[in-house]
Amino acid sequence: MIELLALSVIMIIYVVYFYYWFKAFRISAPYYPTSAKTIKTAIRELKKHKVKHIVELGAGDGRVAFALAREGYEVTAIEFNPILVLIMRVRKWFGRYKKVHIIRQDFLKLNYKEYDGAFIYLYPKVMDQLAKKLTQEMPKNAVFIANTFMFHDKKPVVVSENKIYVYLNEK
Ligand SMILES: C[S@@+](CC[C@H](N)C(=O)[O-])C[C@H]1O[C@@H](n2cnc3c(N)ncnc32)[C@H](O)[C@@H]1O
Repeated sequence: MIELLALSVIMIIYVVYFYYWFKAFRISAPYYPTSAKTIKTAIRELKKHKVKHIVELGAGDGRVAFALAREGYEVTAIEFNPILVLIMRVRKWFGRYKKVHIIRQDFLKLNYKEYDGAFIYLYPKVMDQLAKKLTQEMPKNAVFIANTFMFHDKKPVVVSENKIYVYLNEK
């Protein structure tokens, strides 16, 4: 009986996880984590600017968000896959990360006016859509850090190692 219950729970987790994995694959980017080296580069670049509250669009398991919070940033992690959100919530609870705010939502449905920094690791097809939205909604000189994939219509102020692209919101 207990085995059947455990098996059912595992099956549900798999189905939910892969439902969102394929949805993300279709519209933006499925889960693929940023490496520790790349996170280090991103933090180094961020520190060159005055940024307080960073939003991570598609936060995965939260490794970037928690690393940023350890550096003293206020971070809002947006993710729509409920299994990844659960992992983040558990990590937040165990690590007592008061500066990490987790939102389970489609990042295209939110407004970004309250953030002065953004970390984005998503496929090119959604980058152009986001470039327009973030430029309009975020304050002037907000810092965008893009991992691996660039914004097509924007010129980065810095192209760093590990494919980290830094942009300033010129409005
Ligand atoms: C390439 S992974 C990056 C994960 C994390 N940012 C990192 O760098 O380690 C992209 C993440 O975005 C999430 N995602 C994709 N589309 C999304 C959407 N429309 N709203 C919220 N999250 C989304 C995926 O579930 C996945 O976890």
